Amino acid sequence: MKFFVDTADIAEIAELNETGLLDGVTTNPSLVAKTGKDFVSTIKEICKIVKGPVSAEVTATDHATMLAEGRKLAALATNVAVKVPLTVDGLKTCKALSDDGIMVNVTLCFSAAQAILAAKAGATFISPFVGRLDDIGQDGMQLIADIVQIYNNYPDFKTEVLVASIRHPIHLIESAKIGADVATLPPNVLKGLVKHPLTDKGLEAFLADWKKTGQSILDK
Ligand code: G3P
Repeated sequence: MKFFVDTADIAEIAELNETGLLDGVTTNPSLVAKTGKDFVSTIKEICKIVKGPVSAEVTATDHATMLAEGRKLAALATNVAVKVPLTVDGLKTCKALSDDGIMVNVTLCFSAAQAILAAKAGATFISPFVGRLDDIGQDGMQLIADIVQIYNNYPDFKTEVLVASIRHPIHLIESAKIGADVATLPPNVLKGLVKHPLTDKGLEAFLADWKKTGQSILDK
């Protein structure tokens, strides 16, 4: 399973990239606005830090302009994945860009029917938003299960399921059980995955007992 981080904050991305566990980055216009930084230079900087796919979203809604924006974003770095919304114009743009060998992440997916359209349009990634479905009392994880089941029926579908809008570790664990390809995690969720109180307690006990031996591994 690939781990992407869902942020445009360069410091957060650099810190997490140091772990060696980061496979990519997803951004969206809201995340970019939150940084207060220039979009294009931010994407360029992120693409230098992380070698995996970096999603950069178009902001036009008509096909012609989306295509122009997508080509400009794709030209910023070889690891840019152009993000387009799941609309008719977004799907047309996805088809045109993917036919040219450009990575496309189709975002704002909330149904299996939408996910089928994205795969038919040649999307590299489909981003179903589990958290926003849960937020309105619908079952976000069921959507992931449905998409994975459908995609597995069609070997010619090359689209990777990129679980987005993750709110907590259970979303990640359930997505992994289902067999989703990628999870894009908010920085706080990604950092929290490693934590368990029994690990901390066990390590503390090991080190306390080791200290009693008076030994040091490096002194030998
Ligand atoms: O960036 C795409 C998606 O992960 C954002 O979801 O619900 O956290 O805004 P959300």
